[in-house]
Amino acid sequence: MQNQQNVATPTSGNALPEGFLWGGAVAGHQIEGGWDEDGKGLSVVDVLTGGAHGVPRRITENVEPEEYYPNQVASDFYHRYEEDVELLAGMGLRCFRTSIQWSRIFPLGDEEEPNEAGLAFYDRLFDTLNAHGIQPVVTLSHFELPLHLARHYGGFRNREVVAHFERFARTCFERFHTKVRYWMTFNEINNQMDTRNPLFLWTNSGVTLHEEDNPREVLLRVAHNELLASALAVTAGHEIDPDLKIGAMISFVTVYPYSCDPQDILAADIANHERFLFPDVQVRGHWPAYALKEIEANGYDIGFQEGDDAILRAGTVDYLGFSYYMSTTVKAGAEDHAEESGIVDGGMPGSVDNPHLGATDWGWTIDPTGLRHSLITLSERYDIPLFIVENGYGAYDTVEEDGTVHDDDRIDYLRAHIEAMKDAVLKDGVDLIGYTPWGIIDLVSFTTGEMRKRYGLIHVDRNDDGSGTLARTPKKSYYWYRDVIGSNGAQL
Ligand code: BG6
Repeated sequence: MQNQQNVATPTSGNALPEGFLWGGAVAGHQIEGGWDEDGKGLSVVDVLTGGAHGVPRRITENVEPEEYYPNQVASDFYHRYEEDVELLAGMGLRCFRTSIQWSRIFPLGDEEEPNEAGLAFYDRLFDTLNAHGIQPVVTLSHFELPLHLARHYGGFRNREVVAHFERFARTCFERFHTKVRYWMTFNEINNQMDTRNPLFLWTNSGVTLHEEDNPREVLLRVAHNELLASALAVTAGHEIDPDLKIGAMISFVTVYPYSCDPQDILAADIANHERFLFPDVQVRGHWPAYALKEIEANGYDIGFQEGDDAILRAGTVDYLGFSYYMSTTVKAGAEDHAEESGIVDGGMPGSVDNPHLGATDWGWTIDPTGLRHSLITLSERYDIPLFIVENGYGAYDTVEEDGTVHDDDRIDYLRAHIEAMKDAVLKDGVDLIGYTPWGIIDLVSFTTGEMRKRYGLIHVDRNDDGSGTLARTPKKSYYWYRDVIGSNGAQL
């Protein structure tokens, strides 16, 4: 591997505590490829076409021969994980977050017995990581519901799927508990709150809305089933091995009021309910009052059964993982123009542009201070350990003639966010387990299905038309992050 100039410069800040988990994050479906190998079944993402900024991905009925599905090959990690883990070890990574694709283990989702070849792949991956001193951090469901559970059961709108998830979770805990200590149940479980974009309900829960549906009632029913599934998984994991650390994982797009007008402050408070509903239940073990009021006021039937309270109470999480990419700003009255506010870009009904912030080429605001604000907010609200399991800069990269990528903007983005994170730990006393920047190896973008929206510190030669050698090349940011980790965050 060709070395590059050391770009790290000392800062006046201190290092993070010993044992801080510096890492990187990916998801199985966005990096592995091997979509139909070794008995893997189809998942909800296997029928998602490519898209682009402003061009939504389409959900096809099945895998159609004339369509292009970017996740089929992705970054070919399924065949190249050994080389990739070597590269990650070269950066000094202490942990690596990925997901177990549910449909590798239970191809249809409702089988009684797991697919041994699928389990064996993750055995090999986790062994390789551990052999390099890299702890696996594993998400059980990162938008990877088996397609059969979506098509034949209606996804998580059907309570039967809860038991299928619990069986999947148990199978994984039993098989891997000696190799994996940190787990999360559902990735970004709260990103489906905005039902205006069909992608999120589909990928998170395998749910499509029909004309006769009240979207809000469906969402809350799905939420209840998924929260039960998460709680049952946590309880099962702790039964199997009390030392496991099992977390929730939410998308945290911090919400600012547009001004100090009390109406804007209140608009932000109410908008925040959308962010907090899922973690309120997963951390506290019961539905919050504002949601119960909404259910009661609208006469929604979300399928509460006797005994559900006890399940939720017993299955609270050990830590809260979250992704942080951007903030959003809401203004009272702007929800009247909700159709115009961003539905992919972290916006929500009532969101408006923040004049103080710039944005990426995909319209995601760049706001490192918002990360410190998020850490303070979540720490004070929940008082449990936090884990930043996604953060990063999705951007076009330029590959120079000699194959190098000088991604200074990415370095600037990461440096500013790490500074903010350090302030939260060292000045505000936030209890933070670790930091895993997203897409540490280039992979398929979730919202757009593009390769050119790159997050990686390791470049993958793969393009949106399916061309490219899939060769890996460390970017400038790779060497920079290696020095950050080597100094435990003292050198940025
Ligand atoms: C999060 C997801 O929403 O953000 C990831 O957990 C996703 O799966 C990441 O890739 C970045 O989003 P995108 O659309 O830029 O890939």
